[in-house]
Amino acid sequence: PATALVDTFGRVATDLRVSVTDRCNLRCTYCMPAEGLDWLSKPELLTDDEMVRVIDIFTRLGVTQVRFTGGEPLVRRSLVSIVQRVGQLERAPRMALTTNGIGLDRLAQPLKDAGLHRVNVSLDTVSPERFAEITRRDRFHDVERGLKAAADAGLAPVKVNAVAQPGDDPADLLQWCLERGYALRFIEQMPLDAGHQWTPGKVASREDLLAALRRRFRLTEVPARGSAPAELFHVDGGPETVGIIASVTAPFCGACDRVRLTADGQVRNCLFAREEGDLRTPLRDGASDDELADLIRATMWRKAAGHGIGTPEFVQPDRPMSSIGG
Ligand code: GTP
Ligand code: 5AD
Ligand code: SF4
Repeated sequence: PATALVDTFGRVATDLRVSVTDRCNLRCTYCMPAEGLDWLSKPELLTDDEMVRVIDIFTRLGVTQVRFTGGEPLVRRSLVSIVQRVGQLERAPRMALTTNGIGLDRLAQPLKDAGLHRVNVSLDTVSPERFAEITRRDRFHDVERGLKAAADAGLAPVKVNAVAQPGDDPADLLQWCLERGYALRFIEQMPLDAGHQWTPGKVASREDLLAALRRRFRLTEVPARGSAPAELFHVDGGPETVGIIASVTAPFCGACDRVRLTADGQVRNCLFAREEGDLRTPLRDGASDDELADLIRATMWRKAAGHGIGTPEFVQPDRPMSSIGG
């Protein structure tokens, strides 16, 4: 449609990722310092009404899929209600959630009943001790219970996202996920940590991961990919798959169909965007839906060709992953 969210490279954004909070109950070492961050204050956050209204405007602009992210989205108390309201919009999108899984044992069924379709759970290891080292919290079994609840509630397919850590054997995690029917994807760590400590040496690369997995499993490439970030492989002949999201060594920016809304009402046209489109100020000053739609379109039009990680021009954005949402 004439109103679609296009950029100067001809890409069309149809996948909106909404960060509902910047807070989190874990402290993953690659994401946050032990003491946490300066969280957004209540007045800075979009209210439920504001968030649902903005999402509605995005659906008018061609968004067909909404993913709720954080921080940790389940710590926003009204999440179930937000999901339910978005599910009742005139152009109701497909709805998914990216969560660390803590609290999902209690919330999976209510979310499903509210209209959520799918869930991706972040889990980097199946060793409770390694989990506590990576996340600085001893909560592996909470995540395990959350995953089971998601599967029991029919939030299928349940996917697991792992930010692979150099030195950990990815085959153990794959074995564990295969036994439970979870679709595992490994993610290359990107320079989005709050401390700006990322170096290429911290990335377990696509190549490293495939080599390690092939010591235990036979992997064969699944052809079709489209705009999905994960490259998929059949494991031991399939039908089970394992995915690699090689954002650093094989970026999918050219096929990107994403746009983001932060918890404080800023439109980001890329994870690595250096500038944002402020919707909260006009929203609170009484802007019309058409005016907000124009602001969103203008922000998308400025989307860069790619993230440029590894080039001399690359500058890490000020906003960390935890307040953008994955
Ligand atoms: P599916 O719809 O299930 O494929 O989900 P998804 O992979 O789009 O979403 P998810 O939140 O599970 O994202 C998985 C990981 O992909 C994130 O943690 C990021 O590391 C990476 N990722 C997501 N969006 C982007 C993006 O726009 N650019 C880059 N470079 N990486 C992204
Ligand atoms: N690079 C890639 N993925 C990251 N995540 C958090 N920080 C990074 C990073 N620097 C992942 C989480 C989760 C999702 C929301 O983002 O592990 O899967
Ligand atoms: Fe929380 Fe996700 Fe950051 Fe871990 S990576 S601290 S789960 S926001």
